[in-house]
Amino acid sequence: MASLTVRQLDEALKQQLRLRAARNGRSVEDEIRNILRSAAAEVEATAPMVAAAAEAKASAPARHPDVSVNRVLLIVGGGIAAYKSLDLIRRLKERGLSVRCILTKAAEHFVTPLAAGALVGERIFTDLFDPRTEFDVGHVRLARETDLIVAAPATADLVAKLAGGHADDLATAVLLATTAKILLAPAMNPRMWANKATQRNIAQLAADGFVFVGPNEGEMAEAGERGRGRMAEPLEITAAVEKLLGANQVRPLKGRRVLVTSGPTHEPIDPVRYIANRSSGKQGHAIAAAAARAGAEVTLVSGPVSLPDPPEVKTIHVESARDMLAAVEAALPVDIGIFAAAVADWRVAGEAQQKIKKRAGAATPELSLVENPDILSTIAHRKAQRPRLVIGFAAETENVVAHAKEKLAKKGCDWILANDVSPETGIMGGDMNTIQLVRDSGVESWPPQSKEDVAAMLIERIAQQMAAE
Ligand SMILES: Cc1cc2nc3c(=O)[nH]c(=O)nc-3n(C[C@H](O)[C@H](O)[C@H](O)COP(=O)(O)O)c2cc1C
Repeated sequence: MASLTVRQLDEALKQQLRLRAARNGRSVEDEIRNILRSAAAEVEATAPMVAAAAEAKASAPARHPDVSVNRVLLIVGGGIAAYKSLDLIRRLKERGLSVRCILTKAAEHFVTPLAAGALVGERIFTDLFDPRTEFDVGHVRLARETDLIVAAPATADLVAKLAGGHADDLATAVLLATTAKILLAPAMNPRMWANKATQRNIAQLAADGFVFVGPNEGEMAEAGERGRGRMAEPLEITAAVEKLLGANQVRPLKGRRVLVTSGPTHEPIDPVRYIANRSSGKQGHAIAAAAARAGAEVTLVSGPVSLPDPPEVKTIHVESARDMLAAVEAALPVDIGIFAAAVADWRVAGEAQQKIKKRAGAATPELSLVENPDILSTIAHRKAQRPRLVIGFAAETENVVAHAKEKLAKKGCDWILANDVSPETGIMGGDMNTIQLVRDSGVESWPPQSKEDVAAMLIERIAQQMAAE
């Protein structure tokens, strides 16, 4: 608490205080106490208003943070297929698209805002008359801040409302207020689809420029029902989205060269045996794929993994840490280096050139280890051809953030993605990851999410950084 004495105040202020105290028949000290008491009461009285304003601000749709990625607004209608829309959110995000989501009132009977929100990574929009968002006409903002709107499932009711130009809920108001392209994925019972009214509405919407994906033919959710009416699969819808975004698709890393390392290394003991670790390469491969989708020219240096090479990525396969370093150095110069591989810290000294034979009575062979080159540190400390952004991973089993901060300083890299790889987390080799992004500016905790979502989030952060530079 700061301390203040009357003596420290300037003369004019002291004079005013003396006059005021004399007017009120109080000592100067009592007058000051009185002034402070009224100020405290005023703060208390306005606190609820300040808190309400802060809450309104926090729950309002955030201004769309990043215009360097394509923005898709997903509207989920009230049909059984709504559960597939949760997968659709993941598929869209995997492709580096930024997703917002509206659930109609009927959709909330099939999926919850909580589930959709956890996948989208921000709040879900449900109400047209929401004072938290409509204080600045949020529905118009939702309609404007998007590159494409997808309605999936587009129910018979939603299709009818659209064809009739209704706007009595958030979804239809946004659909009417937008100038973005609209993709509809209808889903309904085959008889509802074949109904003359529905077909009239679909024809009207096609004439108005709406684009359709599906419905497909097949088994319906209702027992024994078959026919046309199944919602297109999430991957089909995603492909239609990418096609529609087409040439306009923002590729935030276009023109950038990105180098990614991935997987474990194998350190030979002899020609048939090696020391390895449990890394699967899933995270590094997902990052390479996400960088390529964002338009970068990507080189992936991969240790031995059982994953296919990502599409549109130049993949170089290596075994040991020394091979990996050589391949990384040969791939320079690049703009961004992302070192996700779990490189062995040590290798076996004096690797045997022939298979070590087990002989009766012979002593058990002893392995002595020597340190491997530190690829991250070597590249981060290069004077020539250091990538502008060097990003490392820290796989820790305790004190994750503290160790990551130390590593950031010691290795000389720009960002560290720290994750807890204790066996109980299932991260090493698993499909999920929980990241703390450690930068000089601070630590950002990301929610538990798939390794594809981590990759998409990292590429978004890199794109922001590149745009800021
Ligand atoms: C269990 C159940 C499943 C439904 N499935 C569908 C469906 O697949 N397609 C459809 O058009 N309507 C379906 N409906 C009817 C819609 O929920 C209803 O028409 C609703 O008003 C649509 O609201 P929306 O315009 O917000 O999508 C279903 C209703 C129930 C109770």
